[in-house]
Amino acid sequence: MASYKHFSVFLYAFVFAAVVSTAYSSLSPDYYDYSCPNALSSIRSVVEAAVQKEQRMGASLLRLHFHDCFVNGCDGSILLDPSPSIDSEKNALPNFQSIRGFEVVDEIKQAVDEACGKPVVSCADILAVAARDSVVALGGPTWEVRLGRRDSTTASREAANANIPAPFFSLSELISNFKSHGLNEKDLVVLSGGHTIGYARCATFRDHIYDDSNINQRFGKELKYICPKKGGDFNLAPLDRTAAQFDSVYFSDLIHRKGILHSDQELFNGGSTDALVKRYSYNSKAFHKDFAKSMIKMGNIKPLTGSKGEVRLNCRTVN
Ligand code: HEM
Repeated sequence: MASYKHFSVFLYAFVFAAVVSTAYSSLSPDYYDYSCPNALSSIRSVVEAAVQKEQRMGASLLRLHFHDCFVNGCDGSILLDPSPSIDSEKNALPNFQSIRGFEVVDEIKQAVDEACGKPVVSCADILAVAARDSVVALGGPTWEVRLGRRDSTTASREAANANIPAPFFSLSELISNFKSHGLNEKDLVVLSGGHTIGYARCATFRDHIYDDSNINQRFGKELKYICPKKGGDFNLAPLDRTAAQFDSVYFSDLIHRKGILHSDQELFNGGSTDALVKRYSYNSKAFHKDFAKSMIKMGNIKPLTGSKGEVRLNCRTVN
């Protein structure tokens, strides 16, 4: 009797552990170890060469993964070109004439398919690995990317408009947007630290520099040269003072009221996220460590696994 009881406790524990582990480990770092042992190194070489050629490309690749994951999960949907059956996310407001890096993704896909001898690596996984390799190439932290995402056969411009946060969002809008993706306030602050690299167009920060009062005056004046009240929509400003380095200057800029976007400065504006911004501003080790953790969390948003979706032959079109 006792042994039967022990057995059933054991069985329950086993089933529980199995359910929990399949729920959380549908992606795994060694997913391509057998099917394509050279997959990760071939992605890294293309990313390294692209960043060497143009440092900003690292920022653009990081942003691509973010905009992919925030629209129906990390499923490569951002990469699909417009077609009669695809309402491309590339034409959504946050992406149109703004998101870039697609040619590098094509180059990676070609290199990785060649290295594998067959198309086994999904475009969604390529984005996740390219984002990590870009961060590393610009001096940021590394992390183990979990793999096995499959590619969507659909895209949604409407979902992209509804789910990608906007630069005019308030702190509470940012918090609830991230919450809707299963990410908390800490994830919001640390992932916004992605703005330690890259650039923004004048059109995205014009209202902040002309209408907001929580901005350093001299800094605002300098930005007005780059971004006049009318015209110059495509003129670029770096998102922090060191746009090619993955450091914590983004956070110290916020403390000095030198955030470029309204949404950036919202993170340090007398609200609940001030303390964390302060901490990351003087503790780049903590920033790097937490950024890596939250990137893994973001990369786990609703992946297609198993027999769902497909592995695309060309990242721009469904098979
Ligand atoms: C918190 C909400 C966020 C908002 C409102 C936001 C908004 C923006 C905007 C408006 C730009 C400039 C786009 C342009 O001028 O065309 C930008 C650039 C960028 N964003 Fe975000 N973003 C957010 C979060 C994130 C996250 C979580 C990441 C990555 C982890 C990220 C990574 C980037 C990067 C790297 C760039 C520069 C891209 C380049 O230079 O090509 N952003 N973001």
